[in-house]
Amino acid sequence: MDRAAVLQKTQEYVHNKLTNQGAGHDWWHIYRVQKLALYLAKKEGADSWIVQLGALLHDIADWKFHEEEEAGPQVARSWLETWSVPESSIDHVCEIVRDISFKGAGVPTPMATLEGKVVQDADRLDALGAIGIARTFEYGGYKGQPTYDPHLSPQFHKTFEQYKTKRSTSINHFYEKLLRLKDLMNTPSAQAIAQQRHTFMEQFLEQFFLEWTAYDDEAP
Ligand code: NI
Repeated sequence: MDRAAVLQKTQEYVHNKLTNQGAGHDWWHIYRVQKLALYLAKKEGADSWIVQLGALLHDIADWKFHEEEEAGPQVARSWLETWSVPESSIDHVCEIVRDISFKGAGVPTPMATLEGKVVQDADRLDALGAIGIARTFEYGGYKGQPTYDPHLSPQFHKTFEQYKTKRSTSINHFYEKLLRLKDLMNTPSAQAIAQQRHTFMEQFLEQFFLEWTAYDDEAP
């Protein structure tokens, strides 16, 4: 099967699998990441086929919804084997799926190849800006977390274990993760987009706290 057909089949497969998935990891997240990754691949000179396969499969079995951290790469591998994709390409895509997740502010997650860096940038960019804000509250609701609690301060996780298990709020998530992503972009093209989305989130937080602290003189 040629490359375009594998891409097409993978698109249909992921669409069917994630179409009813909520919590900010639905099909439309994949759709946005795929087109953003393709844009970045062209800008940065990465292999756009590998990049798109990586983008399509990167959340196929996310650790946030599955116990097993290796589930994603395994699902991706058996899917690509179905279409007789060359072994080296399968390895490349599965490496991207395995390495892409953010695992806490103090936990480094380096990507080995340019294609991996591009997919990781696209995924992180979709966590920023207006869409990032919307996804944060959607995910917080799914986890049963409060929007904000002045008694819970942001925490910076040194291990993946801490990041996975700690209780937090959606507003804290901006400080624990989202506002740090701008400086973690791998490619210059992504940095430029991140800066604009970052500024928008800062404006949102400023307004949020302006409203939260308003009329404090009248507090009971
Ligand atoms: Ni993602």
